[in-house]
Amino acid sequence: MVKKRLASGEPCRKCAQAEDMLRRRGLWHRIDEVVWAQEGDPDAAGWRLAAEHGIDTAPFFVVRDAAGERVYTSALKLTKEALAQGAPAPPAQPASAGPSPDDLAAAARELEGARPEDIVAWALSRYGKTCAIAFSGAEDVVLLDIAARTGLPFSAFCLDTGRLDPETYEHIDAVRDHYGIEIDMVLPDPEPVRELVRRKGLFSFYRDGHEECCNVRKVAPLEATLSHYRAWLTGQRRDQNEATRSALPAVQADPRFSGPTGPLVKLNPLAAWTAADVWAAIHERGIPYNPLFDRGYRSIGCAPCTRPVPPGKSDRAGRWWWEHADDKECGLHVGSKPSSAKPA
Ligand code: ADX
Ligand code: SF4
Repeated sequence: MVKKRLASGEPCRKCAQAEDMLRRRGLWHRIDEVVWAQEGDPDAAGWRLAAEHGIDTAPFFVVRDAAGERVYTSALKLTKEALAQGAPAPPAQPASAGPSPDDLAAAARELEGARPEDIVAWALSRYGKTCAIAFSGAEDVVLLDIAARTGLPFSAFCLDTGRLDPETYEHIDAVRDHYGIEIDMVLPDPEPVRELVRRKGLFSFYRDGHEECCNVRKVAPLEATLSHYRAWLTGQRRDQNEATRSALPAVQADPRFSGPTGPLVKLNPLAAWTAADVWAAIHERGIPYNPLFDRGYRSIGCAPCTRPVPPGKSDRAGRWWWEHADDKECGLHVGSKPSSAKPA
């Protein structure tokens, strides 16, 4: 697939829609490579390919199979032909739309103050495998434990930024083995990562702030991943960040991401728990935990952006410590701030 990138650095809307259609129809895994056509750069690989095929736009698709080589400028045509040729059917998606705002508001009222176990069971019994747990490899392992104990089906993924600590990767593997569950390790699209590193090197976040790198390595992959689900569970808690999470609801309509049936349901079952509650559960239940916690870490993200925290400092002081704002977030949870965090 040849995708356009605008001169502003923004992704092309038409390309994103084409990708979305292929993903929804279960065809995305058949794209071998994404080639970028950078606006204003006629030497970009994507434009060279376009010139080769006498095309002056993107997105387009070059298909090579037993019948030879063909070019499609319409994702719809490509999708129709691929499906007519017996491509695998799209993953089963429930036909029903997501819950109405009224239903979600009622659920939020019903579950506010409920035990994490009840919130998790509520979500998994409704959404099953179309509900995904976002697992960071930190103390949110307690959420996976609660989900596993329900015996209900669910999905789990981890945004593998490529920059996690070795201990975190080992912990994730240990969790997989311990619970016998699949954890989908979601890698970022290699092209924007390569492009960022080519322009700014591997540690641009120390100079320019973490947002750009987090967007490429975490937020964009999260958006693509969530487009397949109807609901997701996070390990966020109100006590983690006074500035951004103090009014975090247990249940909300996701203010930022949507799934195949419309707005996603976002659940934060541990919202009311404190760090002490989490650690009591981990110790009482023998839940495997990331060994970095035994070395002074109190919140865990990517290796270059996380360090241990001295006593007396807040848990998140070790995240992006060179940035001094008190509302540091990586962008996964836009809309969790008090002003927008009322139960849906
Ligand atoms: S962050 O926004 O500062 O990075 P934090 O580390 O507090 O978030 O984690 C809060 C919740 O966000 C986690 O419990 C998890 O649900 C989700 N999350 C954070 N990082 C990841 C990741 N790498 N992969 C999947 N989920 C993540
Ligand atoms: Fe990049 Fe650091 Fe964000 Fe990880 S936490 S994605 S390394 S800026």
